[in-house]
Amino acid sequence: MGVPVPEGGGVMDALLAVENLRVTYPGRPPVEAVRGVSFQLAKGASLGIVGESGCGKSSLAKTVIGLQPPSGGTLRYEGADVAAFDKDRRLTYRREVQMVFQDAVGSLNPRMTVRQTLEEVLRVHRILPAADIPKRLTELLDLVGLPSRVLNVYPREISGGQCQRVSFARCLALNPKVIIADEPVSALDVSVQARILNLVRFLQRELGLSVILISHDLAVVRTICADVAVMHAGEFVETGPTVRVLDAPKHPYTRHLLQAVPDVGRALAARQGRAASAGHAAET
Ligand SMILES: Nc1ncnc2c1ncn2[C@@H]1O[C@H](COP(=O)(O)OP(=O)(O)OP(=O)(O)O)[C@@H](O)[C@H]1O
Ligand SMILES: [Mg+2]
Repeated sequence: MGVPVPEGGGVMDALLAVENLRVTYPGRPPVEAVRGVSFQLAKGASLGIVGESGCGKSSLAKTVIGLQPPSGGTLRYEGADVAAFDKDRRLTYRREVQMVFQDAVGSLNPRMTVRQTLEEVLRVHRILPAADIPKRLTELLDLVGLPSRVLNVYPREISGGQCQRVSFARCLALNPKVIIADEPVSALDVSVQARILNLVRFLQRELGLSVILISHDLAVVRTICADVAVMHAGEFVETGPTVRVLDAPKHPYTRHLLQAVPDVGRALAARQGRAASAGHAAET
């Protein structure tokens, strides 16, 4: 297919360049979850991926971070083919490209306190000397807007929004360049959603991280992402600046998605704007 590539920056400028990526799960019949997707992500860019349940969003994300092998296509990072990386380069890639999983609570080890979870990441990846870890833990919690008492609790003892923040802190511990947030707010109520989205916006705008935000919710993407890709049945059917795509959709499927939620985008954007002025660091 003629795969649309989001505008802006050549392949060489892109931090991440995905070309004709395919993901097929074996079975009878096999499931073609991702069917030839291409996009580029520049430093500091924010790309939303929207589409209905089952269209392949998480499969695409898991493949980009190396959890799921692609069945075709190429993935380039800083201009080099990820498949050809040696062990060291692959480890660096795994550290620099992080994902916040769709099920934040489930992605945290229930038998580890928040402190143990964050310490483990810092130790395993030898991010910094052991003596510097306590200070870094405080910094990380501060960054995601959690009080330090959270360090001593287990995931079941905190809210979904707080678990989501812990997931972000675990990613940030690794000093990533790219964060892929998979449905970071779909399980949260609207006021908590706005705060998590402010955190994502802060990471992208203030820390200069590149962000891929996956959502089935166009409103969420409208508030965060400069560019958007509309995914349908394993393919990107339309890509471009979010404002253009959502206000003047060209593809019938994009129009279909928008018709399903006529004004929610603007409503949430307005709410989000109010929450933003209250600061990103509010505890949820
Ligand atoms: N591990 C797997 N084995 C087999 N099929 C899978 C696997 N993971 C996903 N699928 C299938 O691949 C397709 C895409 O799934 P995926 O989870 O990527 O969709 P999604 O867009 O993230 O959906 P949602 O919005 O519900 O999270 C679906 O048909 C799904 O059933
Ligand atoms: Mg998913």
